Amino acid sequence: MRRIHTKAMQQFEKEHINAVRTISPECMVLLKNEGVLPLDRTGKIALYGSGARNTIKGGTGSGDVNIRHFVNIEEGLENAGFEITTKAWLNAYDEILDKAKRIFAEELKVKAKESGMPLFMFLMGKTVPEPDYELLPEGEGDTAIYVLARNSGEGTDRADVPGDIRLTETEIRDICILNERYEKFLLVLNVGGMVDISPVKDVKAVLLLSQPGIAAGDALADVIIGKAYPSGKMTMTWTAVSDYPSANDFGDINDTFYREGIYVGYRYFDRTGKTPVYPFGYGLGYTTFSVETKRLEADTKTVTVTVAVKNTGKAAGKEVVQVYYSAPEGRLDKPYQELAAYAKTGELEPGMEQEMSVSFDLASMSSFDEESASYVLEKGRYYIRVGNCSRNTHIAGAVELDRDAVTEKVRNICEGIVVDEKQFLNTPISYEGEADEMAGAYVIEIEAGEIACAEHTYSEDTCALPLDEIILWEDVKKGKRTTEEFAASLGDEQLAYLCIGAYKDAGAGGGAGVIGNAGMLVAGAAGETTHRLDDIGMEGLIMADGPAGLRLSTCYTLGEDGMAKSATMPFSTGLEDYMEIPEMERLKEAMKKQVEDAGEQVYYQYSTAIPVGTAIAQSWSEEVCSACGDIAGREMELFGVNLWLAPGLNIQRSPLCGRNFEYYSEDPVISGNISAAITASVQKHAGCGTTIKHYMCNNQETNRFFSNSVVNERAIREIYLKGFEICVRKTQPHALMTSYNLLNGEHTCSSKALLKQILRDEWGFEGIVMSDWRVTSSMRKNNGKYSCASAAGCVKAGNDIIMPGGDEDRNDILSALNDGAHPYPLNRGDLTACAKRICDMVLKLHGVI
Ligand code: BGC
Repeated sequence: MRRIHTKAMQQFEKEHINAVRTISPECMVLLKNEGVLPLDRTGKIALYGSGARNTIKGGTGSGDVNIRHFVNIEEGLENAGFEITTKAWLNAYDEILDKAKRIFAEELKVKAKESGMPLFMFLMGKTVPEPDYELLPEGEGDTAIYVLARNSGEGTDRADVPGDIRLTETEIRDICILNERYEKFLLVLNVGGMVDISPVKDVKAVLLLSQPGIAAGDALADVIIGKAYPSGKMTMTWTAVSDYPSANDFGDINDTFYREGIYVGYRYFDRTGKTPVYPFGYGLGYTTFSVETKRLEADTKTVTVTVAVKNTGKAAGKEVVQVYYSAPEGRLDKPYQELAAYAKTGELEPGMEQEMSVSFDLASMSSFDEESASYVLEKGRYYIRVGNCSRNTHIAGAVELDRDAVTEKVRNICEGIVVDEKQFLNTPISYEGEADEMAGAYVIEIEAGEIACAEHTYSEDTCALPLDEIILWEDVKKGKRTTEEFAASLGDEQLAYLCIGAYKDAGAGGGAGVIGNAGMLVAGAAGETTHRLDDIGMEGLIMADGPAGLRLSTCYTLGEDGMAKSATMPFSTGLEDYMEIPEMERLKEAMKKQVEDAGEQVYYQYSTAIPVGTAIAQSWSEEVCSACGDIAGREMELFGVNLWLAPGLNIQRSPLCGRNFEYYSEDPVISGNISAAITASVQKHAGCGTTIKHYMCNNQETNRFFSNSVVNERAIREIYLKGFEICVRKTQPHALMTSYNLLNGEHTCSSKALLKQILRDEWGFEGIVMSDWRVTSSMRKNNGKYSCASAAGCVKAGNDIIMPGGDEDRNDILSALNDGAHPYPLNRGDLTACAKRICDMVLKLHGVI
């Protein structure tokens, strides 16, 4: 760990900003381009729209990153040599926005009071709706760019209204006028989640910039002038909110029924033959490609497609080859197609060709059969499709099974759950020539009897007795004693402390550290393991938020106890300045004084904002993931962080989820592969691990601590768990965070089925499990029928650490140890099992094993 004493920009910052600038174009999706991009010269440009100057680098909440300087689009274009002719418009817009924020803040104050929630909590995820206004768009030049921005964040879902998911009348009017008036017109979407751009989708050019982090403006300028090219593809289907299968089943404060089952995203749109505005997997470039299947090979384990991709256009580019499969209808209903694997080419110059082999496990085409609690490849023909978009795939051949094959046997986790599922009777999509392709397909026959079936042993709990002996942590580090013995030697109270995070105040659920400047080992970290075992020499684990980089305080001082005290706010909702929150004002004053008093002893931590989750996924690129993981890992090493609270890989079930920008896709294969690639790259750094989150079905923010996702087991396993499974099996992330929501009536953090049976016994997860922040706090305001999670319930289920923890948690755990009537009675074995896993992780991340 290095303490940086000077405010001057460090070499690592420069390198990381350059890296983000280089990868950002791969995350951008070119949605339409009628000869507008790239521009052949710089010069005068008319720049408009909410994101032109107020560009959004990433969303709000824990996914936000505190950085030194952010290049917005206005600055990026000027850096590239453009002369912006609309300064007056941009200045006038700033005034309008400022006024809108003031009005919005007044409304929020009233609503917060009515809700009874503390103002700061109430503000979470609230973003000012885009206002309407009359400003004449009359800038000089023959080229105009309109940047449409939207923001969102944890704590609040989005709304299908003008100014959020929909465009305002002003936006529609101005975009249409500009498209007519200027010879060249580009609509740039500076959004993390979906916007319904149907009213303006026919303009000359549309680029999904997304929220690409620290170098947004420079990277956009690079793409506009052709120094770089966009090569991203959509990872979520975009269309009107009312057309999604979740449209009437989202945002209930108690029970949200996932009535679409496995038909999420393109699985639904393909199955029902609906045409979305932008399909899954879609994206253009500055050139064109042909994708030709060369070979299909398959055996009882693996399917491999070899393709030749050729650049058939006039500019350089990269293409994403997408391989889907269509499973045969049997007893189980099947989607039209499902993504099996994908690969991105290297940079191809015009005329250049690259041959690539894309492989996937034969068993990954299995469906989950609830009745027999097993994964089954039903007999029949599995068509393998290859293309560059879900709506442009062609049959590469087929694999045929003579009879059903069971590929994995498990235990059911949802007995008794009945979801009234929607039936889809419409005709699925098709295309001209599909029937002929199917009839003429090259077929590889596989004998079902030769396919292996995975089985699992489900471990039972043991009750470890106390070991009446003092075991030195030093001896554990030297390998003389085991972590199991060490855990068994700890007293009940020590064990309880180990299973909750570091907390200072006595209030329920702690409180220090989140918005304040409480002392911690790393300023602005989201949490740490307990300090109550410091006297026996046990090191701690420090956790910092993600996923868009490391969220830390940019400036801090050191106390006499060696603890770091934030001197800048680690957490901001972006609206505090409009709210006059007395506690916040006092805190800022105290921080100012703290810096003055510290004299020379002031330190700086400028981390790098990488692209938001969805943007990274849109690259469909392992290299981009590695670059992002490397930036995070390097900064973790530098600032002394052990666990990054990222990646976030919940499924983008509905466009209304306020945290979609943090997540990757509506598809689990992408979510799993992207999080695995990032994890692998972070964990190459000594002492660093990822914390994949939020396990699982955390698909809405409305009443997020008490909302119950009601889902059938097939959808749980095939859609919502799949990404986590891929990531765990491929890369063993060091930690996993459970979610706030309940699943089928049980908090995920106290679900033995999810944590023990599936995560550890079926997938072999070796890391630690932590709760999401304050999930057990009874102080939290609940509007609905479910109560908060229980700390004892967490321990019983194997949710090793309750974060950040508080006296209430400790008391709950200790009382559950002695009270058989407690809703989650504990024995010491439950506690020592969690404690042992924490000890193992401390050894691992401190370089002992
Ligand atoms: C979020 C998590 C985050 C944690 C710590 C919670 O509110 O849901 O994603 O990691 O806070 O900041």
